[in-house]
Formats: sequence, structure tokens, C-alpha cells
Amino acid sequence: MAVRIIETAPYADQRPGTSGLRKKVSVFSQKHYLENFVQSIFDSIDAPPGSTLVLGGDGRYYNREAIRIIVGMMAANGFSKAIVGCGGILSTPAASHLIRKNGAFGGIILSASHNPGGPDGDFGIKYNSENGGPAPEKLTDAIFERSKSISSYMIHDDFEIDLDRIGQSQVGGMIVEVIDPVSDYADLMESLFDFDLIRTLLNGNFRISFDAMHAVTGPYAKEIFENRLGAAAGSVVNAVPLIDFGGGHPDPNLTYAKELVETMYGENPPDFGAASDGDGDRNMILGSRFFVTPSDSLAVLAANAHLVPGYRSGLLGVARSMPTSGAVDRVAKALNIPFFETPTGWKFFGNLMDAGRVSLCGEESFGTGSNHVREKDGLWAVLFWLNLVAAKRLSVEEIVKEHWKAYGRNYYSRHDFEEIPLEAARASMETVKARFPSLPGSAFGKYKVAFCDDFAYTDPIDGSRSEYQGLRIIFEDGSRIVYRLSGTGTIGATLRIYLESFEPDQEKQGMDAQEALGELISISRALSLLEEKTGRNTPTVIT
Ligand code: G1P
Ligand code: ZN
Repeated sequence: MAVRIIETAPYADQRPGTSGLRKKVSVFSQKHYLENFVQSIFDSIDAPPGSTLVLGGDGRYYNREAIRIIVGMMAANGFSKAIVGCGGILSTPAASHLIRKNGAFGGIILSASHNPGGPDGDFGIKYNSENGGPAPEKLTDAIFERSKSISSYMIHDDFEIDLDRIGQSQVGGMIVEVIDPVSDYADLMESLFDFDLIRTLLNGNFRISFDAMHAVTGPYAKEIFENRLGAAAGSVVNAVPLIDFGGGHPDPNLTYAKELVETMYGENPPDFGAASDGDGDRNMILGSRFFVTPSDSLAVLAANAHLVPGYRSGLLGVARSMPTSGAVDRVAKALNIPFFETPTGWKFFGNLMDAGRVSLCGEESFGTGSNHVREKDGLWAVLFWLNLVAAKRLSVEEIVKEHWKAYGRNYYSRHDFEEIPLEAARASMETVKARFPSLPGSAFGKYKVAFCDDFAYTDPIDGSRSEYQGLRIIFEDGSRIVYRLSGTGTIGATLRIYLESFEPDQEKQGMDAQEALGELISISRALSLLEEKTGRNTPTVIT
């Protein structure tokens, strides 16, 4: 028998965050660290014998080694099948789709999303349930509890698998099916969007540039944009997934997707630019010399969804996370469909989608998606935009401006202050919170506070309550300042300040966002005594 029971001692730090357990590679490569966590998952999920799991990751450093360990542990723990992406590759949305399509019990996704990779970078692991979405908090809590008392794990450690060849092999009593990571996902996209129409657009003069940032979407984008939709060769750049993402930071925003931004704002730019992140669930959309904020993107997709085959019959409802701008709220009102405001993180949307309450949802953090899977989906958003551009025969910029004209513009920006000592970040948050009793009614220049709170949410489906989800100050004209501590960073704390103001007047919609939000930015610093408490005034990243 090659199944062994290995004795181990618990680690104290295996509490999964918003998107699974995310740590430095140096932490993950400690003895039994990954194994402890995986056994804690298996001990907590209650999978009946003979269950199937989907397994894959974003290709970062340690991905392959981890897959081999997990396959061995699955076999030893009585699973009957592992569906594994060839080369160990599966984007997060593709994994979500495979879980649903195959009726799998769940899946394990290896990724630290947009965090840098490589030996000095981050690694991550998360468990998704049978609906294809991230494990609910109840389950991640149970996994953490289990990890604190674990004393042994089971592993089958004598087997050969070829991760790079499509086909089946046997590990103990378990079948390992290595599959093409791309084709099922590409078929799903083809079922939602008008590929003929997009093909006509791309066969004309319309040029696109998609930056895969040397992360997981490279092979997906090549297949979908270049092979199936006929975009010119070279439309997908940085298409080969690398274990360290080529030294880059695979986060599609104006700071980290620098190469794409230079292309789109340079000489003779393409008509359309987009990028995705490490594991393929985020998206950034650009037109020629034009940036679409994720909040606007969600609103535009919702307002125009009827132009896309997969959503032709209308939307069940829409949802956004609390810090996301209110642009989509007005679309929901105009369409007379239900609207939900949830805490940050995709899992809250999953419940609403499972219950058939929403079709589209999104976050300001470059995440947009629909009920086709239970994760946000980067390439899906890009295809949605291409479908709209083709159907409306307008440029990206024209579509957004037309939207502002009809619905008004939400000036919006997020300022991130990364790697602040946790105590300092908390002190700044506490400073804001301490002011709450006296804020309503007080005026700061033209801004008069209407309302402030620490956002809390009761899930309308399962009644669960989530508290302390961010401090929001809402002004009488609808402008907002929101303060939140990130739940995904791995070094110190990241303080996020979200700023938003509403401009219905078309004449005043052409300003630079930072300029339009200037006064709110100053107020946000003053209310939090940011500089005094953290020593910072300049954000690490401005979006
Ligand atoms: C960040 C984003 C959030 C997103 C999460 C996972 O979380 O802000 O919208 O759901 O990554 O991609 P945060 O670091 O703010 O907790
Ligand atoms: Zn991601």
C-alpha cells in the first residue's frame, strides 16, 4: 500500500481570508503546511466516498508541486475522481464552470489571484463548493478550526501522473482525468455571446490588445480571441503563463497593467484594450485613450444586457459590493429590476445567484460576472464589451459617454495605502468611527453629511449577518467616502479609501476624476487623520 498516514503538528495561521488561504511561498513550503490545510479541508467538507473534485491553478510557482500533493491526498482520502487542468492550469472562472458542468462535489483552486508569484511571491489555495462558488464562511471557519488541532494527514505517495498529457490515469482507487483547461470554458462563452457578430467586428479594422500579464488567461484568450474570433495574431500579448508572471504584478489596473496602458494611450492605439489578473477572474477595459471604471462597466453591461444573446430575455436583478459606485443602482431602477448591495467579496453574490435573484454583479475592484458561473469572470467581461461594441457600432468611449448622458456620471476613485502597520491602519479607522455620532448634519465645504455607519449586511437568502464591512460616510448629494481594511493583503494592512460623487449635468462630466473628487479626497484625509496616524498621505495605488 502506498497510502500513508503522516503525523503532523498544527500551524496557527491557516485562517482563510476573502479568497482562501493566501501566504508567502516561504510559508507554504514549510513542512506539512499545505498538507495540513488540505487535510483540514477534507475533514471539514464531508464529501461522500466516491466524490469528484476539480483541481487546477493559475500556474504560479509551487502550482505543480501542490497539485501532485493534493492528487495524492485525494486518492488517500477516498475520492473517486480528480478532474485536473492540463499543465495544472485552470482559471478561477473555468474551474467554477467545470465544477458545475461535471456535477463535482467541489474544487480546489491554487492561486493568490493578482498577488505577485515566484519563490519570493505569494501562493494560495481555496476551496469552492458544488455550486462552483467560494466556500461559505461557515465552511472556511470550520476548516480553520480543524487546522488548529490536526495531528495527521493521509497521502498516497507512490504514483506517476503526467500533468502535461490529456487523458486518464489511476492513482490508487482514484481516476485522474487530465483535461484541456480551455475548451469547455470557451464553449460556454460561445453559448453566451454573439461570436459571429464579434468575428465580423474583429475581421474589419477594429484592433484589440489583450494583456494576459503572463498569467492564466493567456491560453484562454489565444483560443477565444485569436482562434475562434479571428483577431489578428499578436492581439493577445504576454500570453504564456510563467511561474513568476515574468516578474510582474498580474493585477489589471492602471498601475500594474502598465504595458497595456502605454499601448492604449500611445501612438495609434488599438480600438479596444483589456487585461486580466493572475487567476483570470478580474478585468480591466480600455478604449483608445479611455479607461472604463469597473463601476461604470457594471452599469453599462446591465443597461445593455438585452443586446447580448445570453441575457436577451432580461436580467433577474443586479448586485454590487458596497464600495462599488452607485452607477448600477440607477440602471436597476430604470429597468425596474431588483438591486442588492452586499459586502466586499464574491461569495455574497453566490447566494443571490443560486436563489435566482440576480443575473449580473460586480465590484469596483475590476470584478464583474454573471450567473453563468459562481466567480467573477475576466474574459466574460471582455467578451461582453466586444459584443456591445459590435452590436451598438460605437467605440468604448462613445458607449460610456452615452451612458453618462442618460444616467449621469459617478465620479469614482479608490486610493490604496499598502503595507501600513496594522495598528496604524486601525487607529486611522477608529479615528473616523469615533466621529460618527457627531457627523450627521455637519458640513465640509459644499458636502453635508447625511448619514454614516459601519456597513453590515443580512443575507436575504440564508439570514447570515456580516458586520464591520467598511465605514461609510454618505453626504446629502449622494457623494460618499468609504474606508475599509483589505482582507487579502499578505504584508501589514492595506487601507482603502473609496471616493464617489454624482454628476448629472452632461456639461460637467468631462473632468478628470481626481480633480472632480479633490475636495472629497481632502475631507477623507482630514476625517481619518491619515497622515498623523499612518505617516502616509500619498496612495500606493490610485484607481
Ligand atoms: C479585494 C477586492 C475585493 C475582491 C477581493 C478578491 O479584496 O477589494 O473586491 O472581492 O479582493 O478578489 P480586499 O483586499 O479589498 O479585501
Ligand atoms: Zn483574481
